[in-house]
Amino acid sequence: MTAPAPTPALTTDPARWPAHDDLLRYRADFPIFEQHNYLNSCSLGALSVRSMAGINEYMRLWGSMGASAWYELWLGRLAELRRQIGALINAGEDEIAIGPSISAAIAVISSCLDYRTRNKIVTTDLDFPTVGHQWLAKAGQGVEVVFVPARDRVSVDLAAFEAAIDERTALVVTSHVFFTSGYVQDIKAIAEIAHRKGALVLIDAYQGTGQIPTDVQDAGVDFLLSGGLKWLLGGTGIVFTYARRDLLLTLHPTIPGWFGVKNMFGFDIHDATPADSAQRLEQGTHSISAVYALLGGLSYIHEIGPQRLRERTQHLTEDLIARALAAGFTPRVAPDPAQRSGIVLLNMDDPTPVVAALAQAGTIVDKRPGAVRVSPYFYNRIEENALVIEAMVRIRDGR
Ligand SMILES: Cc1ncc(COP(=O)(O)O)c(C=O)c1O
Repeated sequence: MTAPAPTPALTTDPARWPAHDDLLRYRADFPIFEQHNYLNSCSLGALSVRSMAGINEYMRLWGSMGASAWYELWLGRLAELRRQIGALINAGEDEIAIGPSISAAIAVISSCLDYRTRNKIVTTDLDFPTVGHQWLAKAGQGVEVVFVPARDRVSVDLAAFEAAIDERTALVVTSHVFFTSGYVQDIKAIAEIAHRKGALVLIDAYQGTGQIPTDVQDAGVDFLLSGGLKWLLGGTGIVFTYARRDLLLTLHPTIPGWFGVKNMFGFDIHDATPADSAQRLEQGTHSISAVYALLGGLSYIHEIGPQRLRERTQHLTEDLIARALAAGFTPRVAPDPAQRSGIVLLNMDDPTPVVAALAQAGTIVDKRPGAVRVSPYFYNRIEENALVIEAMVRIRDGR
């Protein structure tokens, strides 16, 4: 039995929240708001006019230049993307590799590890399934996966990490923000525990980067993976791996690709020497439309800045939690607002009819087992929180 999450305390005073009118002006850039109350950014960030323009530009270049667009423009856009991601998370562009999905990016890292002396991978019950599956599939190579148990359905204690990580641990793999609860983990503390025991640490930051300021130097992590789909507003098929510079040359992927070799345009089948940068973690030809889409999304993130994004999202989150509590719902979130994020689960035995009814009424939220999942972002209005909770009350009360 898992213990119920403690009732969250509200420490933020709504009366003192800034209006953020300048952020609301961005709504006009996101066409979905013409038709829906969209509160599902943790599943898929909203499409912007800038990403649309980027994808159109990609098609225009493809149509007018054909393959010469690669050399004249697209390789440059890839380099620009690595640079912009590096700037966002306080890394160098040489420490950033582009990939198609978190699953594929993790697979590349997992192929670099030597499991002969350290064969243990530590992850948690609350991480995204692909994180565990990656190493469960390596049982035949003697890899053992340890799932640190959750204290409740919200968080994992640092003491539990401390107990699970030992001299046989090769890697600790866990989230910055849990997709199941929105809980923001102390990744700096987790990295410190892992390193003290000689293990590396990989952070799945797919639910963090964008809505939570991310600084890989300060956190001291070895790898950090994130991408466009959610809080970076870049759509599908584009993620990145940060790999710490002084680790890079020790990484030898055994699932390589020609984008990862040092002399890729030498076209030499005999020479698989990996690139000197994190590009050695890249595989085959990238989706350039996704590169353009993500550059469009990232422009908002850089323009607004991670601190303001966090501040705005916190206000919306605290408002949503307060309204849910007042209406008699039980949010499945951290007790401390500092550890909450823009992912709010509202416990509900059967969320399916509720989410469907909300969709009928024009409000897009999501569900996870036993909960409705609502995720406001900077472009949402307080009034949209009210609409969700009012609709949930109507459905619950059969009105
Ligand atoms: C935290 C987290 N990691 C990984 C994934 C999935 O990654 P991918 O589909 O790119 O492998 C998701 C959800 O889409 C997620 O929320």
